This record gives sequence, structure tokens and C-alpha cells, in this order.
Amino acid sequence: MEKLDYVVRPIASEDELKKVIEINMVTLPEHYPYFFWYEHYELWRDIFVVALVNEQIVGYNMCRIEYGIGHIRKGIVRQGHVVSIAVLPEFRRRGIATALMVYAMDSMKKREVSEVYLEVRVSNESAIRLYEKLGFKKVKILRRYYLDGEDAYLMAKEL
Ligand code: ACO
Ligand code: ZN
Repeated sequence: MEKLDYVVRPIASEDELKKVIEINMVTLPEHYPYFFWYEHYELWRDIFVVALVNEQIVGYNMCRIEYGIGHIRKGIVRQGHVVSIAVLPEFRRRGIATALMVYAMDSMKKREVSEVYLEVRVSNESAIRLYEKLGFKKVKILRRYYLDGEDAYLMAKEL
């Protein structure tokens, strides 16, 4: 496979947000209303990151920051939540999702986040492998988490 040049950076415009939503529509069964995407774009732009190849968006990672009971750390902690990440099929297995995760987690650290978590379908082996490679651990199973009845793993990592 030849080398692929890509750039990872925060999302920069509402036009880019529209492109991200298009990628979500073709890559994942979980979709969200526009205001939900827009809220992340407005409030957490530094941890809403996109990957570009030849100036075209080919992947995204949309995160938010919450306060909650720690999944790994004790007590109430400031948590990064990876809400949705995807890469277009023709650009997969080139390290783009890894770069999107690393960029967002670095920015979370700057915002004094002490752990990061996400939910993933128990059948989504490629995503689970990606997260495990980054040091995430399966913390618990969320029964029937998805609309179609599938369970989720809650996975988390200390930052
Ligand atoms: N099979 C096995 N392992 C895989 C696969 C696969 N198809 N894809 C990724 N991995 C693992 C590998 O260990 C890989 O490292 P390697 O290539 O050196 O072996 C590692 O993950 C990192 O892979 P990347 O190249 O960084 O990941 P990629 O850019 O291909 O994107 C992603 C992975 C985001 C899961 C992609 O397959 C995708 O968009 N899938 C559909 C959307 C999706 O499932 N998103 C996650 C939902 S959960 C959530 O959003 C919180
Ligand atoms: Zn979530």
C-alpha cells in the first residue's frame, strides 16, 4: 500500500460539519439531530477533529467533556466522551482513526480531563481493537444499549 498523506486538525466551519454528517450517514447506524452535532461544534471544537486527504474530509472524531462518576478513577471526574468516530472505507487501515483519537486525547489533556470513555457495539471488533491498542479497557457491558438491541462495551482509559 502506498503512503497516504493526511492532516488531522479541529473542525473549522459549518460546511465541514455538513461533510462530517454525510460521512456519519454512510459509516454508522447511529445518527443524531443537527442541533446535537452543532452543540459539539460550538462548545468543543478543539476535540471535534477531522482528517483530510487532498483537502477532502475522510474521517472525524466528535468528542465532548462531561462531569461524572469515574469509570477508572474514583469520585466525580472530568471525563472526555468519544461520541462518534468514523473513517470512510477506502481510507481505513492507514492509521487515520488512531491519529484522530490521539489528537483529541491530547487536546482533552490540555482541558484537564482525567479519563476518557466511549461505548462500542460488542460486535465491532475493528473499533474494539483500535481502542485496545490505544490503551482503553472494557469496563462494563451496557445491555441493549443500541436501538436494535445490541449490547455495548463501555471502554475507558486514564489520561
Ligand atoms: N480489522 C481488525 N483490526 C482493525 C481493523 C479491522 N478491519 N480496523 C482497525 N483495526 C485495528 C488494528 O489493530 C489497527 O492497527 P493496524 O492497522 O496496525 O493493525 C488499529 O485498529 C488502528 O487502525 P486505524 O488505521 O487507525 O483505524 P481506521 O482509520 O481504519 O479506522 C474505524 C477504524 C474508525 C473503526 C473504522 O473502521 C470505521 O470508520 N468503522 C466504521 C465506524 C465505526 O465503527 N466507528 C466506531 C464506532 S464506536 C464510537 O464511535 C465511539
Ligand atoms: Zn457515548
